[in-house]
Amino acid sequence: MEPLRAVRGMNDVLPGETPSWQRLEAAFSRMAGLHGFCEVRTPYVEPTALFARAIGETTDVVEKEMYSFVHHDDALTLRPEGTAGAARAYIEHKVHDREPVTRWWYIGPMFRAERPARGRYRQFFQAGMEIFGDPGPACDAELIDMLMGFLGTIGVREAEVLLNSLGEGESRARYRDALRAFLLPHQDALSVDSRRRLDTNPLRILDSKSEQDQEIVKTAPTILEHLSDADRAHFDGLRRLLDGLGTPYRVEPRLVRGLDYYTRTLFEIQGAKDKLGAQAALLGGGRYDGMIESLGGPATPAIGFAAGIERLLVAADPPAVKRVVDVLVCPLGQAALSKGLELGRELRRSGTATEVECRGASMKSMLRRANALGASIAVVVGDAELSAGIVQMKELAAHSQQAVPRDQIVALVARRVAELGGAS
Ligand code: HAM
Repeated sequence: MEPLRAVRGMNDVLPGETPSWQRLEAAFSRMAGLHGFCEVRTPYVEPTALFARAIGETTDVVEKEMYSFVHHDDALTLRPEGTAGAARAYIEHKVHDREPVTRWWYIGPMFRAERPARGRYRQFFQAGMEIFGDPGPACDAELIDMLMGFLGTIGVREAEVLLNSLGEGESRARYRDALRAFLLPHQDALSVDSRRRLDTNPLRILDSKSEQDQEIVKTAPTILEHLSDADRAHFDGLRRLLDGLGTPYRVEPRLVRGLDYYTRTLFEIQGAKDKLGAQAALLGGGRYDGMIESLGGPATPAIGFAAGIERLLVAADPPAVKRVVDVLVCPLGQAALSKGLELGRELRRSGTATEVECRGASMKSMLRRANALGASIAVVVGDAELSAGIVQMKELAAHSQQAVPRDQIVALVARRVAELGGAS
């Protein structure tokens, strides 16, 4: 029978890789805690209408990439990103009534039916943060500065911040008209999607994936030329703060990113272009000052970002960690098995990561397994030795063996594991 395979674009993370994931997630939650963020966990499934309203009907994500289904009479969608769900939860639980500024972080799987490629999957993990209630630009600068520091600590080198401002309503309306006027004479050369969006959402044409569209928009007017005084002051303020912090960035006036909710500050951090190619956006984020109100909450400024964990791992390229346990207990013969299980239990209670070889294997194969597990010590429990009240402790790297009284083995192993730099 043909074995079944995972869904295309959805990956298994095997135990060889999970330590790197765990370390990255721990580093992220540590950084979040240091900056006053609390973890939020929202459902993986939300009403389809939430994403249509928050992300925008005419975005690629909503038009083409959502895993949507109807269950009984409910139109539901596997979340393609975390911001809409966080905003819904913020409003639903009236968090705005309890605190003037809310800082949330999350890590979890997101789902988009995109064409799979290196760094682009259909189930992928995002680590993100959202700040509600702070209009910036100081917290915008703090967020970007924090992210550059974080990328450094996880080993991502040559990361680059791309920065833009999308302005608010008035600036956007002016820019929309200017962009449309620029694109109209080119409409026959635009892709089918972009021609359609000329009327509905011309900004989306700026981040069209079609090469011919990209060629045309290269010379398009930029939004920075159309910012209102207030939007310009916000953007200049952000730039001054970043300059003051010594955080480098490149202004990219045609950066729009694929979600309609952004206002004012917009940023992307790229890295590992040699390995990720077109998927070099390690993370993206920005302000979405209109979303909370548009979803039925009180007018509340907001900013956030999300990083793709798979991309961060490619960029950071963390070394593999093999160690699984410190000690393998090797019972010699069936009769010693229950004594071996007992010793295993005691070792773990003392904090030593221990596995007991339960299969009744030969000495040679047990020692081979101890090495494969990355154990530093094997404790051999044999019937004859036990009746004499001893066990054999083998240190694998040194190829040494010593007889140890049974009542001293737990403390001795714990000490030797610590001296050898064990995992537990
Ligand atoms: P996004 O730019 O759509 O923004 O995604 C953020 C990051 O998620 C990307 O930079 C990338 O690292 C990763 N990512 C996106 N799609 C994929 C994929 N198909 N495969 C692998 N990784 C992917 C958002 O999702 C916004 N919610 C960010 C945000 C939070 N803005 C404000 N708050």
